[in-house]
Amino acid sequence: MQFFLDSANLTEIKESLAWGVIAGVTTNPTLLSREDSAFELLAREICTLMQGSPVSLEVLATTTDAMVEEALKLAALAPNVVVKIPMGGEGLKAVSRLRREEKRVPCNVTLIFSVSQALLAARAGAAYISPFIGRLDDIGWDGVGLVEEIVAVFRRQALDTPVIAASIRHPVHVQRVAAAGAHIATVPFSVLQQMAAHPLTSQGVARFLADWTRRQGEGRP
Ligand code: E4P
Repeated sequence: MQFFLDSANLTEIKESLAWGVIAGVTTNPTLLSREDSAFELLAREICTLMQGSPVSLEVLATTTDAMVEEALKLAALAPNVVVKIPMGGEGLKAVSRLRREEKRVPCNVTLIFSVSQALLAARAGAAYISPFIGRLDDIGWDGVGLVEEIVAVFRRQALDTPVIAASIRHPVHVQRVAAAGAHIATVPFSVLQQMAAHPLTSQGVARFLADWTRRQGEGRP
């Protein structure tokens, strides 16, 4: 399973890149609204930082024609842009057109909450599909269970559309979607930090340091 960073923050993107663990970035209008930079400038900078790895930028339009027009503008920002299209009839038409009629634009169909939606998005020609697991958990459903089901159905139906587990809230989500066979998990930076940490690791480092300092205090070389 690959990791994407779910963020529009340059500091977070640079730090995760330095860790050597991310293979892409996903943004959404909420994440972008938290940043001060002008949208196009920021989007281009993220795409440059990611050096050819996929960067998802979402359309705000809600009708097919407007989605296609906006998608083409987003795709023109950089060669590694993947256009995020919200699931639904209008979105499916846009994905289908962007794949078949216009200059081919890879789409990440977002806001997927059922296996049926996932199947339709894959058949329409999505380059990625993004089931949102945290938001399903929030309403008392089973987000990880949905990823498990989608992965199993896609395997059985020989659909090769990569499944991005999105709306990840904590490291256990990440572990469980990896076990479920998700191809990618898009993870907020805070969760990436939680994943890297363990109290026994910090305690271990502190103890090694204390033991070595004591030895030096005893004057031993
Ligand atoms: C994915 O592409 C979305 O940007 C994201 O995972 C949404 O997560 P949220 O439910 O925490 O907003």
